[in-house]
Amino acid sequence: MTPAPVRILMCSPEHYDVNYVINPWMEGNIHRSSQARAQQQWQQLNTLLAAQAHIDLVNPVQGWPDMVFTANAGLVLGNTVVLSRFYHPERQGEQPHFKAWFEQQGYQVHELPEDLAFEGAGDALLDRAGRWLWAGYGFRSLLEAHPYLARWLDIEVLSLRLIDKRFYHLDTCFCPLSDGYLLYYPPAFDTYSNRLIELRVPADKRIPVSEADATQFACNAVEVNRTLVANLISSELQARLEAQGFRVLTTDLSEFLKAGGAAKCLTLRLTETALPAAEPVAGVSQRLITLEGHLVDSNLLNEALDTIVEQGGSFQIQRLNLGSHRQNTSNVQLQVSAPTEATLATILSSLIDLGARLPEDSRTQVLLETVTQPGVAPEDFYVTTIYPTQIYHQGQWVSVSQQRMDGVIVLQDRDQTSPQAYCCLIRDLQVGDRVVCGVDGIRTLHKATQERSQEFSFMDSGVSSERRVELLVEQIAWELRRIKDRGGKTVVVAGPVVIHTGGSPHLATLIREGYVQALLGGNAIAVHDLEQAVYGTSLGVDLGRGRPVKGGHRHHLKTINTIRHYGSIAAAVEANFIQSGIFYECIRHQVPFALAGSIRDDGPLPETQMDLVKAQQEYSQLIQGADLILMLSTMLHSIGVGNMTPSGVKLICVDINPAVVTKLADRGSLESMGIVTDVGLFLSLLVQQLQRLGRPYLKPVPPLPVQ
Ligand SMILES: NC(=O)c1ccc[n+]([C@@H]2O[C@H](COP(=O)([O-])OP(=O)(O)OC[C@H]3O[C@@H](n4cnc5c(N)ncnc54)[C@H](O)[C@@H]3O)[C@@H](O)[C@H]2O)c1
Repeated sequence: MTPAPVRILMCSPEHYDVNYVINPWMEGNIHRSSQARAQQQWQQLNTLLAAQAHIDLVNPVQGWPDMVFTANAGLVLGNTVVLSRFYHPERQGEQPHFKAWFEQQGYQVHELPEDLAFEGAGDALLDRAGRWLWAGYGFRSLLEAHPYLARWLDIEVLSLRLIDKRFYHLDTCFCPLSDGYLLYYPPAFDTYSNRLIELRVPADKRIPVSEADATQFACNAVEVNRTLVANLISSELQARLEAQGFRVLTTDLSEFLKAGGAAKCLTLRLTETALPAAEPVAGVSQRLITLEGHLVDSNLLNEALDTIVEQGGSFQIQRLNLGSHRQNTSNVQLQVSAPTEATLATILSSLIDLGARLPEDSRTQVLLETVTQPGVAPEDFYVTTIYPTQIYHQGQWVSVSQQRMDGVIVLQDRDQTSPQAYCCLIRDLQVGDRVVCGVDGIRTLHKATQERSQEFSFMDSGVSSERRVELLVEQIAWELRRIKDRGGKTVVVAGPVVIHTGGSPHLATLIREGYVQALLGGNAIAVHDLEQAVYGTSLGVDLGRGRPVKGGHRHHLKTINTIRHYGSIAAAVEANFIQSGIFYECIRHQVPFALAGSIRDDGPLPETQMDLVKAQQEYSQLIQGADLILMLSTMLHSIGVGNMTPSGVKLICVDINPAVVTKLADRGSLESMGIVTDVGLFLSLLVQQLQRLGRPYLKPVPPLPVQ
């Protein structure tokens, strides 16, 4: 029996023009298309296709120039059509005309709810063997439309996320072919979608195209019985297709490329069949979340919506109550959709980190799994942030202690009445520990939901430039003095640049005068500080004169050697070998310090902890109870400290490199602040400002030792 002829719907380009910009191809092309050439190109395509299939025509309507792209009329399967709901108002007027045509032809027409964008066969392509439907989302169609497709068309729907706005519809970069072949442009999709494609289409059936072919709309091809019609296809790609038994016909469609469409966009296949589905499935998982706080002023709503989309999900705002006054909070309820449970869990976990809440019903009970191997967490563990966190267990919210980033939450409830939860590093997990998994029953108190303190409003998160440095230094000096006055704790994390830039006497002054309660750093800051105390040089450079000293390159090694001879920095101070500097002041004023080793360390000094797990523990102990951490020109140690510091501790990062400062100041904490400047200059200004605040707060800084 000969198969029924393929039927294709087209629409003559009588009213075609580029009248607006709704995709990157239209930019710069407004009214730049030639009506005559468009007519001639469309006719040529029509003739080529008419040799392969029966062409049906829908009447063009004045005022709707893109009606020529019939792929977006709807999605047809058998006698059923899911009518498009255009994303852009510029095309929404096409809907009634396509609807009328389908109804006249006797199709059963399904219409999606009003706010659910779906752009027909532009974003939904059947596997040519009818096994499933590939459905795109990300720019035009919404992921939330996919479950409707699955239900109405009785088919499995595989959701693919588009990430390159040039390929805004699935059919611009994806073309399923006969016998399970697939022509596609992989970079147009996110990693998850590429993995899904690779799972369903074996490697020998996948035909990836180059960017050059993709931008000539090679994937926007129409295939009928192994004949492929497209705008332009490179000779390499043509050879590849021919080797698989496809005949390739190209026809100039450059006038339509100006609007972002080619052969496939200009056609809608009306004769589509599918294998009977065991069960209609759209791999779409959904959950409701609520978010409350200063959603608009703090940009939290945008951040949440971006988080959803960037991680491969989509959202629908179900309820939005905006506070009517500046001090009022707002709240929003969102339905979050994702193509899989795993993707949804990742998105929800990020939203919880932003302060989102899952609805408080019986399902909020936290999920606990037991550790079976020391130092290894159950697979689905929840990763902690710097924000205060609570977990819902046996009908009550339990606050998590020892909050830090990148840990897991362990719950202890031996006596059942007073459950306790704490943050723990994976490596410290013991067999039998019960670890919080999944996303249910977890909530965090994010910055936007925390009360802003008027007093410290100047400490808002931000990165300053040189211009504001002096003003910021005044504010930091004031803050340091307040912490000192109330017996609080300031921790300094410092790198060797402090010494090279002449900041050493200033930092020593801060320690001597009681502004620093703990010092953290690597081997280098200590080596160069001690070298300066002994030789007046830092890496062999005389800081007093700014010149290298003959033989100075050996100074730091000689210093390390002598300290090793004494057995510790403290012993060298005791023996009067060290008589000034940062570490001298630490020893003299009993300010504890921790030195964490690294692979590039010389020596190391006896105090440098080369066991990094122990070094992390020492750091973590010293930052306990800190009010403020001053991070001075060390990317490595500052980031390490940032990760173990809970929200609520003010972080001030000083570095000459804006990228380092941004990374540290941008940890989403209200209290972090970055200053892009030379650290020596910063310390000198800070000490001057503290002196200005007057005695008894600070004595003058002694001059630099000159060799
Ligand atoms: N001799 C040694 O043992 C030795 C020598 C060097 C480094 N190290 C070790 O290597 C590790 C990494 O060293 P690190 O912390 O110096 O390097 P790092 O790269 O982590 O940080 C240095 C930071 O200083 C910034 N910087 C440079 N000039 C500046 C200026 N004038 N003002 C302000 N910021 C400035 C840089 O932008 C950078 O972010 C540490 O553990 C350190 O102890 C050891």
